[in-house]
Amino acid sequence: MTDIKKGLAGVVVDYTAVSKVNPDTNSLLYRGYPVQELAATQPFEAVALLLWNGELPTDLELAKLRATERSYRALPADVRAAIDLVPLDAHPMDEVRTALSLVGARDLAGTGSVLDASGSAEENLARSIRLFSVLPAIVAYGQRRRRGQQPVAPRDDLDYAANFLWMTFGEEADPVVVDAFNRSMILYAEHSFNASTFTARVIASTLSDLYSAVVGAVGALKGPLHGGANEAVLHIFDEIGEAENVAPWLDAALAEKRKIMGFGHRVYKRGDSRVPTMKAALDTLVAHYDRPDVLELYETLESEFVSRKGIYPNLDYPSGPAYNLMGFDTLTFTPLFVAARIVGWTAHVIEQLGANALIRPLSEYNGPDERHVEGYVPDEAVLAAADRPEESAG
Ligand code: COA
Repeated sequence: MTDIKKGLAGVVVDYTAVSKVNPDTNSLLYRGYPVQELAATQPFEAVALLLWNGELPTDLELAKLRATERSYRALPADVRAAIDLVPLDAHPMDEVRTALSLVGARDLAGTGSVLDASGSAEENLARSIRLFSVLPAIVAYGQRRRRGQQPVAPRDDLDYAANFLWMTFGEEADPVVVDAFNRSMILYAEHSFNASTFTARVIASTLSDLYSAVVGAVGALKGPLHGGANEAVLHIFDEIGEAENVAPWLDAALAEKRKIMGFGHRVYKRGDSRVPTMKAALDTLVAHYDRPDVLELYETLESEFVSRKGIYPNLDYPSGPAYNLMGFDTLTFTPLFVAARIVGWTAHVIEQLGANALIRPLSEYNGPDERHVEGYVPDEAVLAAADRPEESAG
């Protein structure tokens, strides 16, 4: 019997120097640095450079990235037009996927043959920075257009996180909010061979282009078992309403064998290393907006669920209510995840191409035995070919 690793659970498929998830010590390292230390001390732009280049930037390198990021911040007119073609009631992840596909097609126009698609490491870093820079405008415009609002032009005097909030809400955010948002971006930026990153690496391994890898990753992230969970957490909070409803709600949900979104993880089985940092950011937001009710619901559901199932919250659990308090619509949560994870995806694409091997696993066939179409008579050439030893595989 072939030992099938369903869902590739427990399978180590390659090396990576981008990040290390260690479920035993409950830690997550980006290029060696604990993520909670980065979240407490660094702007998201510096963490992006760390993930791409392997080292935290010097002041000069950070200033250079910030200047480049500012130059690609505005929503290009054709990207806006493409977003406007997406139905208003489509899921925003479909909108983001469409917008990024256009950004890629426009950028690669004229490159000619597919043989040139994968690009050099320098070209791919430049493409990664462009995607990183333009995503806030795409995500912010998505939320605004669903509210019937026009896009807001970026502000050159604001850094990445503050400008992202500015373009979304059209007003300058309080430093407490900017700080919590910056931390969330850092925590979401990278997480080794998760489903969307692996998707990106599979696509890159065919020597397709970085944009195609990112568009595929967006599709993978949309699923509620992956990135879509942060959105699903808020639906659960809305369903429950207030803390006193938690116990009966949970009884019914577990009786129906529902998955409780925001809990559980394929790798971490004793708690997600990113949760304490995001929970601390949520606490600052609860105090800032004076919403103790949110904390009460959060803590009651957590303690009830953990005591019944022994399954701990993942990052989506604190980030859902945090984004809600900041004023983001629930539908915008997973696009926010894209804006952060773009860094991890692209760092992995660059790493994959640096030591590439086509990713092509095997499967164990369990369909019907060989059978034949009634009335089919093979011609001579086919019979002759069938006699030859095996030549090729698709
Ligand atoms: N709610 C209820 N039960 C859960 C659960 C959850 N959130 N997460 C895991 N379980 C249960 C499963 O039902 C299963 O029980 P069983 O053995 O009685 O069938 C057991 O725990 C193992 O779960 P499984 O789904 O096989 O583990 P996995 O490693 O494949 O799954 C997730 C990991 C993330 C897919 C899973 O925990 C989940 O669906 N969580 C909710 C979605 C989510 O928050 N995703 C974001 C991840 S960062």
